Amino acid sequence: MDYKKYIKIVENWPKEGIQFKDITPLMDNGKAFKSAVDEIVQFANEKNIDIVVGPEARGFIIGCPVSYALEVGFAPVRKEGKLPREVIKVDYGLEYGKNVLTIHKDAIKPGQRVLITDDLLATGGTIEATIKLVEELGGIVVGCAFLIELTYLDGLKKLDGYDVLTLMKY
Ligand code: PRP
Repeated sequence: MDYKKYIKIVENWPKEGIQFKDITPLMDNGKAFKSAVDEIVQFANEKNIDIVVGPEARGFIIGCPVSYALEVGFAPVRKEGKLPREVIKVDYGLEYGKNVLTIHKDAIKPGQRVLITDDLLATGGTIEATIKLVEELGGIVVGCAFLIELTYLDGLKKLDGYDVLTLMKY
């Protein structure tokens, strides 16, 4: 499917010079959204996934339907101060700013096979931080799936050695 026709490019948002890729028109379209989720499920199918992990907030939108289809759990990675119990944390840089990501300490058991999902791979800071959290808990990252990759930001370089799926490239 040509998913790009469902992505709206918003100039200079949230900051001057950024071309924001809005995925909400894709989510608005049931067939396109299902098709994108199905492609990720297919990518994950042979990997014996134990749990899906996605970073706030758009990683949840992709990861939850995928985990439902795979009949496995979903563990949220959230910005600092949002998870109620004991967490581990990591600093990361993103395309426009800096932040801290956290995951519940008991979200992943050592040896579990993890699929990480997000809407967008830009600089790769978010996925790198998410991988760090998963691996610190003993999880094995067996795949990373995104709707969009911004190739000019070279985020893929941070994913050397990992199995990566992206449905659209800009
Ligand atoms: C966006 C996007 C990815 C990340 C990609 O999330 O959804 O998670 O940036 O950028 P990177 O590869 O340079 O790290 P954002 O941090 O804006 O959070 P949000 O989904 O909660 O808006």
